[in-house]
Amino acid sequence: MGAEPHYGPDFGQLRRQDPEIAQILLDELERVRGGIQLIASENFTSPAVLAALGSTLTNKYAEGYPGRRYYGGCEVVDRAERLAVERARELFGADHANVQPHSGASANLAAYAALLQPGDTMLAMALPHGGHLTHGSKVNFSGRWFDVVSYGVRRDTELIDYDEVRDLALRHRPKLIVCGATAYPRLIEYTAFRGIADEVGAWLLADMAHPIGLMAGGAIPSAVPYADVVTFTTHKALRGPRGGAILCTEELAGRIDRAVFPFVQGGPLMHAVAAKAVAFGEAMRPEFADYTRRVIANAKALTDALAVDGMRAVSGGTDTHLALIDLRATGVSGAEAERRCAAAGITLNRNVIPYDPEPAAVTSGIRVGTPCVTTQGMDTEELKEVGALVNRAVRQPGRAREVRERVSALLAIHRPYLSEY
Ligand SMILES: Cc1ncc(COP(=O)(O)O)c(C=O)c1O
Repeated sequence: MGAEPHYGPDFGQLRRQDPEIAQILLDELERVRGGIQLIASENFTSPAVLAALGSTLTNKYAEGYPGRRYYGGCEVVDRAERLAVERARELFGADHANVQPHSGASANLAAYAALLQPGDTMLAMALPHGGHLTHGSKVNFSGRWFDVVSYGVRRDTELIDYDEVRDLALRHRPKLIVCGATAYPRLIEYTAFRGIADEVGAWLLADMAHPIGLMAGGAIPSAVPYADVVTFTTHKALRGPRGGAILCTEELAGRIDRAVFPFVQGGPLMHAVAAKAVAFGEAMRPEFADYTRRVIANAKALTDALAVDGMRAVSGGTDTHLALIDLRATGVSGAEAERRCAAAGITLNRNVIPYDPEPAAVTSGIRVGTPCVTTQGMDTEELKEVGALVNRAVRQPGRAREVRERVSALLAIHRPYLSEY
């Protein structure tokens, strides 16, 4: 009998050979199946994505790009990368795509390396107002190597203050303006950012790590026509493998490619590149467009349900997959709410709110998101109930067991990695 044409993960072998690690895999699956995951930056990849990730492509060294590698034997993995690039370009209508960044942070590092020199000025959203570490935090390379000017949201509307962005741009003349955030629930006005960048002669980078999946499904407007460079992660609402990618104009293609390799990275993770191609293929399907619309509808239902119970949504609501919730009316801190929800089987994260009086380890807020629960098949009625359960878990910790029972009942219908995709 000939060998099987495919060779993939053998969990039985892992269990026999390394029971400690096998048990960790089982425990993590059990954790995910046993609670409601409201972490806005997570999702459940499809079995097809997992199959590509668990493939022998992980073995191949392929420094360089398809057709111009620094290793032999790349003719097969070249096909995977070409497909990933073609699908990314088609999905997002971009001139050029680089699918090699290992993560969102690596994608940003490469984009900055392509456009800036150390000491150059960049303008980006402040971390306490929703920006990401890689947007100029002092504890990150971005804040150490560049002269970073930060913009924020207005105190009254909690929306990006475009007047402030323009004033800062005119005053500091940044070489790069970054839009995009990690905890901003509203749509970003790309036309305003493009206009400001043009006025001061700056590049515009849209870090779409969070909403890229919604862009792929057409549920929110695309940043691609406005930004010179779009960086993103593939593992959030987009539902692909953990990783990053970059889209850019034809003009910047060579600079971006040289910045990713050889400047920032060595060999690409070809199993992850293949898995990104699978995810892009899935995101092109009509079902994915429908999924992204349901993600937003679910986020709105959850946010509305929380608001009924006095948990105010920062900026008054959401247009995306996530919401930032101000807990001050409950008298419970973000850190305590995170703990109480965990005890009741609901996983979410504490998050600073704009102008937060509490430090980052405590916070006055939580961030909630619906990519996971929507992948599981929950609908707006169920998200209303999830909102009521979060409220009960936060305000009445003594009722954690009762909340956990309702969580289990919901999960009995919608269990990840048991129901159909
Ligand atoms: C806006 C933004 N940029 C970059 C990143 C970094 O992505 P990664 O964690 O893959 O490095 C994130 C992750 O949360 C993000 O939200």
